[in-house]
Amino acid sequence: MNQQSTINLNPQAKQMADESMIRNLAAQACAIWPQEAPLLLRYSLPAVPRILDAGCGTGEAASRMAELFPRASILGIDIIDASLNLARQRYANLAPRVQFEHRSIYETGIADDRFDLVVCRHVIHSIPHAGRVIAEFVRLTRPGGYLHLIAEDYGMLHFQRAPVDPRDFWHQVPPAFGAATGTDLFIGRDIYGILAARKLKQIRIDYVIVDTLRVPRETFAAIIEAWRDGYAEPVGEYTPISRERAAEYFNQMIANIRDPLGYALWMVPVASARVPLDKR
Ligand SMILES: C[S@@+](CC[C@H](N)C(=O)[O-])C[C@H]1O[C@@H](n2cnc3c(N)ncnc32)[C@H](O)[C@@H]1O
Repeated sequence: MNQQSTINLNPQAKQMADESMIRNLAAQACAIWPQEAPLLLRYSLPAVPRILDAGCGTGEAASRMAELFPRASILGIDIIDASLNLARQRYANLAPRVQFEHRSIYETGIADDRFDLVVCRHVIHSIPHAGRVIAEFVRLTRPGGYLHLIAEDYGMLHFQRAPVDPRDFWHQVPPAFGAATGTDLFIGRDIYGILAARKLKQIRIDYVIVDTLRVPRETFAAIIEAWRDGYAEPVGEYTPISRERAAEYFNQMIANIRDPLGYALWMVPVASARVPLDKR
């Protein structure tokens, strides 16, 4: 799969390949994994599960799943070679049980029913035609296997009010950014319906609560700092908010998180479902 053929389907390619994204994925995993791991352990998986990490980035989740499921074979796929190379370097000790390959999640080129569990975290809000990739995930999952999707929703962040009020940012930016990039930054609230329309079973919507009570303030702040460093520029390009103003909003959010008297919240939807036994 050559990079050019997939680039239009990855409108955040520049941000995904930026060094700020490496920081972001690390901080997000630190914040989210402690609440997410118990959700993954609920699935009835075989003793030696086959797991796909679709849009694996730098391998944060693939490596953690390798620890969670010590006999699993895990394939991470992505279209950014720098991220794949970093993942291969970082987790060389897990090879060949954990592998990273350049493949597009729209068309993986992998045979039907290959996986017991398909995981896709922090991806489907950032690409167009999420329904197409979900169809590919269902194809790849064996009957009775599971999908596990982190479906972000940028209406699910709350910060305290301030003169530079983050509420104004989150009201204005995601609709404009989504319209400019052909993506749905509110897909978290629709994911139940998307999975139900595919006749998937045992659909659950859980929430990882990233807030200043459950997650260390510095970890939460590191996520927003990375967003500021990677996204202030495209916010300036795609929305009515300038790059400079976007940075001010992000700085206000960071100050809110770092304030010992402050409270801030990001609700992260985690959708799961089982592929029916009669999927064809
Ligand atoms: C925000 S990152 C999430 C990475 C990882 N899932 C995690 O949770 O740490 C989104 C990833 O999706 C990847 N991606 C976007 N479009 C893709 C496609 N068509 N095929 C494979 N990966 C894709 C990006 O390259 C990026 O690495």
